[in-house]
Amino acid sequence: MYDFNYGRIPPLHFGAGKIARLPAIVSELGGKRVLLVTGKASLQASGMLRSIQDLLQDAGIEVHAITCPGEPTTTFVDDVCTQFRSQSVDVVIGIGGGSVIDAGKAISAMLPHENSIFDYLEGVGRGMAHSGIKKPYIAVPTTSGTGSEVTKNAVISEVGPAGYKKSLRHDNLIPDAVVVDGDLLVSCPRNVTFACGMDAFTQLLEPYLSPKVSKLTEAIAWSGFTAIAGHFPDVCEAGSNDTKARGAMAYGALLSGIALANDGVGIVHGLASPIGGFFPIPHGVVCATLVAPSVRANLAALRARAPKSPALEKMARLGALLSSHEHGKNDSSQDKQAFSGASDTVTATIFVGQIRDEHCDALVRILDKWTGDFHVPRLGEYGIDEQGLEKILDKAQNRNNPIELTRHEIRAMLKERL
Ligand SMILES: [Fe+2]
Repeated sequence: MYDFNYGRIPPLHFGAGKIARLPAIVSELGGKRVLLVTGKASLQASGMLRSIQDLLQDAGIEVHAITCPGEPTTTFVDDVCTQFRSQSVDVVIGIGGGSVIDAGKAISAMLPHENSIFDYLEGVGRGMAHSGIKKPYIAVPTTSGTGSEVTKNAVISEVGPAGYKKSLRHDNLIPDAVVVDGDLLVSCPRNVTFACGMDAFTQLLEPYLSPKVSKLTEAIAWSGFTAIAGHFPDVCEAGSNDTKARGAMAYGALLSGIALANDGVGIVHGLASPIGGFFPIPHGVVCATLVAPSVRANLAALRARAPKSPALEKMARLGALLSSHEHGKNDSSQDKQAFSGASDTVTATIFVGQIRDEHCDALVRILDKWTGDFHVPRLGEYGIDEQGLEKILDKAQNRNNPIELTRHEIRAMLKERL
């Protein structure tokens, strides 16, 4: 726990209005010509893309812009690099959700290289090692989900019967700067905000429960939990433009990226790669639909086979935290006022001395409630059937889970959400 190695965390510019620093950050990285990678619609529709382009151009920076239509594929990355390799782009900026941040990261990594990105993909490519030589990259997330803005890998997807989600990975691919601006956090539909938030929650939970977790990641994950617990699921309400709440969710997502990058992920993410490779299901939906069954399965397995595991106490602590926010939200008495006035840190510590085993059940109950309240889609809605489950199980990874789950237990978990 007190023995760990930690990866680099990029310079972080976090807070409302911080996008104004973008031209200065580009200049610090030596940029004169930037390639702006964005998503399909929301930035354009809100007029924000135009504002950012103007901001850069007013500072004398030449801007090239492309859109990433979905999760990046090898063809997309190769085509963009072929198009821009000769145009002396010196900095890449990715502004968007997790797919866009990954796309920009992959493009910045591949612009200086002639090969296809496929050659470097883990597990499916030609096994070539990336040299780490890349163009400087600035990540500007506009959703609160994957935490890709602080990780060293870019996930590339090919969906279909022989599909995969695999990473291009190198320490140097950690972005050179990150801007998280509450004003850019788009007001997505509640189901999308919920799925992204559940991805972030899962990315905090899985490293937190990992058998190899460090003290540093425990502290980081807990800080993320307190931010998310205080504002989730209120932030998912349709039309929610509460920038403070969205900032808190973005903070949780940022910390989830740091946590997973350093202490790994468990069974939900071990299933997310094959599920997302074989079937056209968004990553956040996989996490949202499987997190409650995964906690239920882990809880049962730990109680049966490892009742002294520290993961049980951690689940109870998290259950106590979420319960406390639930009570604070539902209680109209004095307690609510006292509760809402407490800082996240105070809220987090009030309950530490009061945790009990039944708080583990509270954790499961609250996750089940969220799953129901937000009508999280089932796996079957994306074409997954019993036969598909076996294919997924063949590729599932069970690394860093708090306890080794059997194939039978994982199958039961999946069937709960078929
Ligand atoms: Fe994730």
